[in-house]
Amino acid sequence: MADQNIKIYRGRLLSFAARPSGPDDTSAYSYEEDGALLVEGATIRGSGSFQSIMASAPEGTAVIDHRPHLIVPGFIDTHIHFPQAQVIASWADQLLDWLNDYTFPEEQKFADKSHGKRIAGAFYDALISNGTTTAAAYCSSHINSVDAYFEEAEARGMLMLGGKTMMDRNAPPALCDTAQSSYDDSKAMLEKWHGRGRAHYVVTPRFAITSTPEQLVAAGALAREFPDCHVQTHINENQNEIAFTRELYPDAAHYLGVYESFGLLGPRTLLGHCIHMTGHELQVMRETDSVAVFCPTSNLFLGSGLFDKAGMESAGIRTSIATDVGGGTSYSMLRTLDEGYKVLQLQRQRMHPLTSFYWATLGNAEALSLPDRIGTLDAGTDADFVVLDAKATPPMALRMENAQSLSEELFVLQTLGDDRAVVETYAAGNPLKSCRP
Ligand code: GUN
Ligand code: ZN
Repeated sequence: MADQNIKIYRGRLLSFAARPSGPDDTSAYSYEEDGALLVEGATIRGSGSFQSIMASAPEGTAVIDHRPHLIVPGFIDTHIHFPQAQVIASWADQLLDWLNDYTFPEEQKFADKSHGKRIAGAFYDALISNGTTTAAAYCSSHINSVDAYFEEAEARGMLMLGGKTMMDRNAPPALCDTAQSSYDDSKAMLEKWHGRGRAHYVVTPRFAITSTPEQLVAAGALAREFPDCHVQTHINENQNEIAFTRELYPDAAHYLGVYESFGLLGPRTLLGHCIHMTGHELQVMRETDSVAVFCPTSNLFLGSGLFDKAGMESAGIRTSIATDVGGGTSYSMLRTLDEGYKVLQLQRQRMHPLTSFYWATLGNAEALSLPDRIGTLDAGTDADFVVLDAKATPPMALRMENAQSLSEELFVLQTLGDDRAVVETYAAGNPLKSCRP
């Protein structure tokens, strides 16, 4: 009898080894026209030509045939807000009004565990439907929301990062914690979830405006006590946000200096937005190896500004790309890449589709310091992968009649694709799009 725990997935395989230096950099990726993955349980055991995988597999191993579709690593979203699933698409002015008028009222509902549980179910369905297998999320300020978030990830076997949002001022009282309670609650959630199965806890001070200096001291203490946990926050998204921050922290040399002075920067720090950066801030970003997170649909939706990818990268700063739902307007990393492409076009920074797909997979895995587990199809990594159909809709199929190369196919997927182009989403070897566990 063949081992039911081992399976072969046949299709056209695409996986990256490095960031492509240009359109012709074939050393940055591997593409196998008749390829296959050998998956044992939750782990990829082999990746290569179908012939070689068949030769290495035990006799009688089941073959799941996804031809003619592409198999790529699962998409990774490095910045999203789980309690904003019912905030997305709210007609607001810019950031601070959007937060006060829609977001803060909505997040208060997450004090109730049953609400968090219901939204978590829908939130994970949306991620999976769009081919996202890992995300780094802000929960609400309530520990109930952290439990709801990680319980759902555990049920689906997904590698997810997240944390309780720390916020103790400039928000409704029902959403505010205190410096001490935010430390205690974050630590309790961290000790409960970090390293349990595939869960990663993220220390999550929302942003400088909603944290007192005492709370940022507490966040810095957690980051120091638990150095393998990530830190996430927002910075330099909006001019009014920057002006208010300068009023609240008049002694800081600049906005980033606030986070720097509380020990919140480092290679595991994810800084959402990074749009209006000064030269000195760029230098501190590079020195601390912190990650700049580009959120194109959100930056356009809230009228925040244009992320300067080339400027960041030439300053030696690590970057990633994310949806930022509910300021962002789509759960789809394909839609996000498309809008990111347009933001960069406006600055004459044209992004090649190979770079796009690198960014949403290995690039984001590197930004999360997790490339040994996710972001590629390499043997020994977690079996998180997606099956993509570039002919998923009639307009896509029509356009594909004219496509000659892999790069063209990727660009059609990015420009015209969404959840309909995601045929299947596998996390830890399980097909989650077609069968909910
Ligand atoms: N800054 C502080 N909180 C938020 C948030 O929830 N969304 C966005 N886009 N920016 C923020
Ligand atoms: Zn955000």
